Amino acid sequence: MLKRFLLTPGPTPVPPEVLAALGEPVVHHRAPRFTEILAEVLAGLKYVFQTVNDVLVFAASGTGAMESAVVNVVNPGDHVLVASVGNFGERWLKLTRTWGAEVTALEYEWGTKADPADIEKALAADPAIKAVFVQSSETSTGTVNDIRAIGAIVARTPAILVVDAVSGLGATDLKTDAWHVDIGVAGSQKALMVPPGLAYVAVSEKAWQVVEACTTPRFYFDYRTYRAKMTGDGAQTPYTPAVSLMVAQNAAIELIRQEGLENVFERHRWLGRACKAGVQALGIELFGPDDPDANSVTACKVPAGLDGGRITKLARDKYGVWLAGGQGRLKGQVFRFGHCGYFGASDILVGLGVLEMVLAELGYDVEWGAGTGAAAQVLAQSPVQL
Ligand SMILES: Cc1ncc(COP(=O)(O)O)c(C=O)c1O
Repeated sequence: MLKRFLLTPGPTPVPPEVLAALGEPVVHHRAPRFTEILAEVLAGLKYVFQTVNDVLVFAASGTGAMESAVVNVVNPGDHVLVASVGNFGERWLKLTRTWGAEVTALEYEWGTKADPADIEKALAADPAIKAVFVQSSETSTGTVNDIRAIGAIVARTPAILVVDAVSGLGATDLKTDAWHVDIGVAGSQKALMVPPGLAYVAVSEKAWQVVEACTTPRFYFDYRTYRAKMTGDGAQTPYTPAVSLMVAQNAAIELIRQEGLENVFERHRWLGRACKAGVQALGIELFGPDDPDANSVTACKVPAGLDGGRITKLARDKYGVWLAGGQGRLKGQVFRFGHCGYFGASDILVGLGVLEMVLAELGYDVEWGAGTGAAAQVLAQSPVQL
């Protein structure tokens, strides 16, 4: 018997209330009960996105949600700007190029943030840029971009701002409307505490003008079809939805509402702070800056002489703890703790305790209890439930 802990930044652990909802008998998607559930999920997502804009839901992974934003906005030859700070920024580059955009790429060193001043300069240099694509939380590096500053800049231009908040939404503050996010993209499997499979987009009025004018052929991902069916009273889905995941998302949103969005962010802040204090107390360097807003994932440099793959494998195979490895060019160089969604103080202590045992077994000079002790000292100061 091996007790398993999923300490990765997606998929993430699912609360028992949500698992129970997943086990409910399947409702027919045209039944009045499902119409109620859909309405509740849409209202709940507006609460989490902090928006009055239309929110659309469909079955897809996070990448599907990203691609949906591209096909609804980009015509071949359109000028767009991508600010990339990691693996998922590179995904914006690939997606926009796949769909024929002329891309201005601001590629930052992984582990750093996008500089809003560069975005301002790039938009001034090419007034034809119609959309800016960026991540809120870049899961591969743990970095969180300054969406508020970027949004203020993009809002002064005709361009729209498209933000991948797949690992940020529900963990780090993202004020979709106040920060001028025109299309916010998210998925069910991270801070929203549901298994993978649902994609969410929040679309502003400014973005709708672009979507309406976009001539790129699309069918399943056509936002106009979803808008027609899914907004207003008696909302329906245009196609068969992932019914059970919707029921589960409704239960998870109820948990977020009970805790309160501000408390949810505060809990994530304390977990992020504690995790970072713990790994640093073990002499492990963070990958990227010690940013108080980076609360979804803690990316750590693999100590010199150790093999990153062996750290995550030993943690998984001997102790049942899933940590994430490095992605893309960081493979083998980085390992990551996820703490977005259904995470509490105990998860951080379990993760750090296992890390100590794993590092010691791999020959690293571990001061026993340094990581868990430093984290516990931080966690004990939290004014909110963890
Ligand atoms: C920031 C970010 N964007 C996009 C994705 C892609 O999501 P998916 O793997 O569900 O397609 C992920 C998944 O880890 C992510 O963290």
